[in-house]
Order: sequence, then C-alpha cells, then structure tokens
Amino acid sequence: MLSRLASGRARLQNHRQIIKTVEKGGSQIIHPSDLTSKIEAKMSTLTLCRKDEVPEDEGLKIEKDNLSVAVFQFEGNYYVMDDLCSHGPGSLSEGFLDGYEIECDFHAGAFDIRTGEVLRPPCMVPQKTYRVIEHPEDVVIEIP
Ligand code: FES
Repeated sequence: MLSRLASGRARLQNHRQIIKTVEKGGSQIIHPSDLTSKIEAKMSTLTLCRKDEVPEDEGLKIEKDNLSVAVFQFEGNYYVMDDLCSHGPGSLSEGFLDGYEIECDFHAGAFDIRTGEVLRPPCMVPQKTYRVIEHPEDVVIEIP
C-alpha cells in the first residue's frame, strides 16, 4: 500500500515537473490532453454557424466580428476562407464549388478551399484560410 502511494506521488511530481518545463519554453514529452487544453486556452475561436446550415454544393457567407468569410463543406469536412476574392470584387461564397475547388463567379479564377492556393488565374494571390476546429455541431474557426 505504501509503495503504491509513493509511486503515485512520484508520477504526480513528474507531471508537475513536465508542465513547469513546458511553461518555461522547454521541450518535453507531455500528455496530449494536457497540451490540447494549454493550446486551446491561448487561442481565440469564433463560432460561425451550425454545420447543418452549410449547403453541400455551394458556399455560405458569414459576416461576424469584422470578418467576412465563405464557409464550404466537402465530404463531411468544413473549410473557411475570406469571402472577398483576392483578385477583385468577387464573393467566393457565390462562386461555383467543384470538389475542393471554388471558382470565383467574377473572372472565373479558382482557389483550393483547403489551403487557399491559387488553382487558376487571373487570381495570383492565395486566399486567406482559417483553421476549423473540431466541434460536433458548429463550424468554429481559430482566429488570430
Ligand atoms: S474577382 Fe475573383 S477572379 Fe477576379
């Protein structure tokens, strides 16, 4: 019984030491759940809409907290990028979605909804995208 108590106390001490090391900017292996909660505590998130509000074959424009973004879904995954096309006045939520490609309805340039990478000119500048955070019902993004 005493040896189990000592063993538990030693593990607890080890966990505390790991957390202290990480907080000081050191690198150590820590339990993933500890790391996740530390990261989530430091980042800002924004809930955009419910997942069931996003149509399957087109974008959904959301304006919230000084952001204007286009939300897309493909094969059950959700993607978010700035709505205003980097080439001009086109609204990507009004574009034509084909798989991972969104074609701007203004000059027919295209972007990859996963990365914002330019897929077709006249667009030259990649589109800003946002990391979508796992959530059971809502589309939630990480914001800077
Ligand atoms: S405004 Fe989008 S391609 Fe020109």
